[in-house]
Amino acid sequence: MCGIEFPGHPDLIVGLDSPDDAGVYRITEEIALIQTVDFFTPIVDDPYWFGQIAAANALSDIYAMGGKPITAMNLVCFPSDRMQIGILREILRGGIDKLKEAEVVLVGGHSVDDEELKYGLSATGLIHPRKVLTKRNLQVGDRLILTKPLGTGIINTAIKGGLASSELIEYVSSLMAELNKKASEVMLQYDVHACTDITGFGLLGHLAEMVEGTEVGVSVEASRVPTIQKAVEFASMGFVPGGTRKNYEFIRDMVDFSDNVSAVMRDILFDPQTSGGLLISLNSGEAEKLVEDLNSAGIRQVSVVGEVVREPKEKIVVL
Ligand code: CO
Ligand code: CO
Ligand code: CO
Repeated sequence: MCGIEFPGHPDLIVGLDSPDDAGVYRITEEIALIQTVDFFTPIVDDPYWFGQIAAANALSDIYAMGGKPITAMNLVCFPSDRMQIGILREILRGGIDKLKEAEVVLVGGHSVDDEELKYGLSATGLIHPRKVLTKRNLQVGDRLILTKPLGTGIINTAIKGGLASSELIEYVSSLMAELNKKASEVMLQYDVHACTDITGFGLLGHLAEMVEGTEVGVSVEASRVPTIQKAVEFASMGFVPGGTRKNYEFIRDMVDFSDNVSAVMRDILFDPQTSGGLLISLNSGEAEKLVEDLNSAGIRQVSVVGEVVREPKEKIVVL
């Protein structure tokens, strides 16, 4: 990150030198702390939804590592001179309600006056030091499972363009506000090799982080990737966020698309997600059972989207 060398520590299990979701620090042989922070400008107009989404998003990295979040702190930037305090109250209410659902205790926070509204949280979780799931450790033959449909970036662009119906806004808000808690708990009953959550880099960007510098590659079956139906429509009308292009440029050398993958589908595979689903890698023999268990837990749009291959190494082949 920025060419700076970050100091390590014998108890720092996951730090800034790896591309991982959160930092992990060992306290004892049995317990490690997971720490993460995330905040952003509003993605939806409704302040209560925004608060819920921000909280679900902030906790997601802990779930992706297989940890249990326990405490959180609010981070608030608020333009008090031009925005009613009632808006902030609704945002915080959304955050608090989401934390309650997650059984996470709000222990504090900090706010500053700022030109632009921003909200998020820092979150702390616990995990066994030897059970930390990272982006590494993909194994040849593994199946890759995605737990939420893609397309929230495209829908959010359509919302900003005033084209999304209130039903669609409601649907995509609830999707982004959905905790990855259940998915993580179900996943932990399996021998999972690696996991991450899909956020700003899109599915392919996050897959790139998982294979870069390793001895494996992945193949993705585009037709099996769960997508928000309306996102396909809006993408074909050109409502694609700026981040999509950046995500593509960033890893273009690592991706090989088969000719029958449409331009719209490519946009969806690179679509930056807010509070996206988990991407789980585990033995092929257990994949279908995990999908069934996730379905039974109420997580509906889950699918095996690809597999880990020996060749080509450090590449993503999209079929
Ligand atoms: Co993450
Ligand atoms: Co983060
Ligand atoms: Co303070």
